[in-house]
Amino acid sequence: MISYKVGLENIQWDKLFDLYKRVGLLKRFIENNEYHKIQSAFKNSYKVVIAWDDEKLIGACRMISDGICYGSVFDVGVLPEYQKKGVGKNLMNTLLEGEDYIPIHLTATFGNEDFYKKIGFKRHKTAYSKYPWETIYTEE
Ligand SMILES: CC(C)(COP(=O)(O)OP(=O)(O)OC[C@H]1O[C@@H](n2cnc3c(N)ncnc32)[C@H](O)[C@@H]1OP(=O)(O)O)[C@@H](O)C(=O)NCCC(=O)NCCS
Repeated sequence: MISYKVGLENIQWDKLFDLYKRVGLLKRFIENNEYHKIQSAFKNSYKVVIAWDDEKLIGACRMISDGICYGSVFDVGVLPEYQKKGVGKNLMNTLLEGEDYIPIHLTATFGNEDFYKKIGFKRHKTAYSKYPWETIYTEE
């Protein structure tokens, strides 16, 4: 049975790293074997949601927030064999539960924009971002 849990209880860190390896997120840390940094990032997050198929970790996402003014969502990932079955949507709904009173920001990876549209996000007219490396995600 698939369940969604807030928090890092019973987390199998190696399975979390495998998830992100397989879906191509957090690449720069994975390529440099900096798994401890991913672990710290998750521990320092405002909220983490893990999707479990019984004891198996099948998806995850997290929010960074002050809990008062704003929140940002990152690292939404579902194992490829579990995608398109509603797991991503349920992960996000669990992450957003109780956060209705703050604006939530996120950026989609290419090709996944409509996933966020379907769960109620709208394109931001004036969003800006600054990367310390070259990225295909920003305009000139
Ligand atoms: C993006 C991702 C998290 C979506 O998870 P998922 O479990 O496949 O999504 P769901 O099955 O919950 O989809 C919910 C709805 O969005 C739709 N949807 C999912 N991915 C979509 C996509 N890429 N484009 C358009 N619609 C999409 C589904 O068809 C479904 O629509 P419905 O409610 O009309 O049936 C998953 O594909 C993933 O892990 N991708 C790789 C990692 C990644 O790039 N993550 C995004 C980081 S910003």
